[in-house]
Amino acid sequence: MIITKDYTQLSERAAELIIDHMKNNPSLVLGAATGDTPKGTYTQLIKKLNKEDLDLSEIKTVNLDEYVGLVSEHSQSYWTYMKEYLYNPLNLSYNQAIIPNGKAEDLHKECERYEQEINRLGGIDLQILGIGRNGHIGFNEPYTPFDSRTHVVQLTENTRKANARFFTGEEEVPERAITVGISTIMKSKSIVLLASGQEKASAVQAVLNGQVDGAWPATILNNHPDVTFIVDEAAKNG
Ligand code: PGA
Repeated sequence: MIITKDYTQLSERAAELIIDHMKNNPSLVLGAATGDTPKGTYTQLIKKLNKEDLDLSEIKTVNLDEYVGLVSEHSQSYWTYMKEYLYNPLNLSYNQAIIPNGKAEDLHKECERYEQEINRLGGIDLQILGIGRNGHIGFNEPYTPFDSRTHVVQLTENTRKANARFFTGEEEVPERAITVGISTIMKSKSIVLLASGQEKASAVQAVLNGQVDGAWPATILNNHPDVTFIVDEAAKNG
């Protein structure tokens, strides 16, 4: 576990860790998280990569989730986020992105396709995770089965409230999303979980208690052999 003074330091440490993986593996499959927390990491990553001479053309990113019902061009879709925070600044080819299609006609088929696509890539090498106030990872809300694969979820009221800040109001937040499952996440070779701010303290505490508890999905990470928690003091101490 790495405890940082603040969010900036957290973002720098996470970016350094990603770059180390990129250097060791030019065809890295990077599990990408969205939300507020990783924005600083991506900003630092871009800054640091601009000083490096790394070929990123073989890297793939695999997103954790996408809202159901939003066209990919929607301002709050996670594909728009990826373009803004990673793809456009780094000039990556859009072909390098793997992201669920929230507008798929058959959502269950789409989930199956997504899971197969991850397997075809040989799995996720390095998964970046944020954590919800309720301990969710991806959109795996409390009591999601630990053996879940990519699936459609009904977002909880709390999650929709938390994400309303990105929309014009809570009623605009989609009610469902496609998310990789907890077992999909657990199959990643390495995992980095980022937590910043006092509102994450209860969830972080649950994880650090070391007990696996379905009420706090992120606690399953205690069973993974290669997880780095990068948390700032506010998230650690509340
Ligand atoms: P946040 O979201 O980074 O915007 O706080 C994290 C999450 O809900 O997983």
